[in-house]
Amino acid sequence: MDNRRIGVFDSGVGGLTVVAEISKQLPNEEVVYFGDTARAPYGSRHEDTITFFSKQIVRFLQTQNVKVIVVACNTATITSLEHIKKEFGSHILGVVEPGVISALETTKSKIGIIGTQATIKSKAYEKIIRNKRQDIEIFTKACPLLVQLIEEGLIDNEIADMTCKHYVEPLIKNGIDTLFLACTHFPIHKKSILKATNEKVTIIDPAIKTIQSLKILLEKENMLRLETNKPINELYVSGSSLNFKKIYKAINKEECVVKTVEIENY
Ligand code: DGL
Repeated sequence: MDNRRIGVFDSGVGGLTVVAEISKQLPNEEVVYFGDTARAPYGSRHEDTITFFSKQIVRFLQTQNVKVIVVACNTATITSLEHIKKEFGSHILGVVEPGVISALETTKSKIGIIGTQATIKSKAYEKIIRNKRQDIEIFTKACPLLVQLIEEGLIDNEIADMTCKHYVEPLIKNGIDTLFLACTHFPIHKKSILKATNEKVTIIDPAIKTIQSLKILLEKENMLRLETNKPINELYVSGSSLNFKKIYKAINKEECVVKTVEIENY
């Protein structure tokens, strides 16, 4: 048994989709979440900068009595996970490997991957998929505006519908059967993405497999929280919390309290 909390971070609100999955699959666990709202989006930044930011966040989370850290950001997982593990140890999980497993379980032959500029440019997903399967056709598209719309609180409206259509339509024309959401922000646009695909393809949210892997790890290491009192998650941001609260409410159907942290001090 280990009643310490699970640390989760992202560039902004995207990682809340991963926290929602923790609440579903591991309802006893408590989370301390950090969203780097002052410095989001990460997707257009240099990889060294993203690694520098990620290390600061991990240092902050380590002051918060966490037993494990989930990097709830594809961009930070791809650019920084290995560097962070080297410095801070192995109880740090990313979203990339588990996500690939669900995508490969689902696709028949053609997979579309949407993510940030950094994620798509890295070709990390193609490399991992190619290592496991050579018979799959892969089509990718960087969708930076989708993150920015969410960080501005613009979801479930005409602008979101149009932007999703703009990015997703070319992939649909390529005949994809599976659309992999390689950015933790994107499930927040799920309704607009579904419209853009005419509900013809299977949409994969890597959070589900990521949290399955986390559950396996916690069980294996005897680290589950065994308290029965309702867990209370703690939320931190580095900048504005206005849109963060709005998106939190859209995801969780309840208000939240958000604290600010001077992340440059870590
Ligand atoms: N949610 C993030 C990801 O999964 C980062 C988005 C961004 O800040 O550009 O890649």
